[in-house]
Amino acid sequence: MVKTLIAFGTRFGATAKSSEVIAEVLKEKFSHEVEVVKLSSETENVDITKFDSVIVGTSIARFSWTKRAKKFLKNDFSGKKLFVFISSAGITYPALEKGEMEKYEKWKGRFLDRVVKKNANVEPTSTAVFGGWMENKGKPGTYSTYNWKEEDAAKWAEEIGKLTS
Ligand SMILES: Cc1cc2nc3c(=O)[nH]c(=O)nc-3n(C[C@H](O)[C@H](O)[C@H](O)COP(=O)(O)O)c2cc1C
Repeated sequence: MVKTLIAFGTRFGATAKSSEVIAEVLKEKFSHEVEVVKLSSETENVDITKFDSVIVGTSIARFSWTKRAKKFLKNDFSGKKLFVFISSAGITYPALEKGEMEKYEKWKGRFLDRVVKKNANVEPTSTAVFGGWMENKGKPGTYSTYNWKEEDAAKWAEEIGKLTS
């Protein structure tokens, strides 16, 4: 049985929702043993040695990863499959939705590829960009942006399932 860890950093919750969806698909359709860990001061030193695959997710806000998700990338992933996703609702995901591929590649490069290359000791097997949400501060309970889609996370989880079996 494949043992998979999903470790994520979130600010507003979208990365947590995507992590849940990925976990469900991997458990239900691919029989993975999955542990989902929200990175915090207590969990940042989670022992990754027993896992075959590690999925790292982070919120992107103010052009940055969460501090703990970025730190988590410094783990030793030798011999494991690494997967990385970002929730980038303001810039990268809208470019993908609109098919503005040059813009998409530029921001994915800055927010995802470059950060992983600089911090992780293995190349990711696959990466993904998801949406998320931003609350409308003027009108509580409404969103100025809401582009999180469950099917994006589910689809990528299917890809991970195939790449790990
Ligand atoms: C203060 C603030 C700053 C943000 N900055 C960015 C940004 O630099 N790039 C981007 O693509 N999205 C940005 N966003 C949108 C986030 O990607 C979105 O809120 C997403 O849901 C964050 O993931 P999380 O919900 O897991 O925290 C920002 C949102 C807020 C509220």
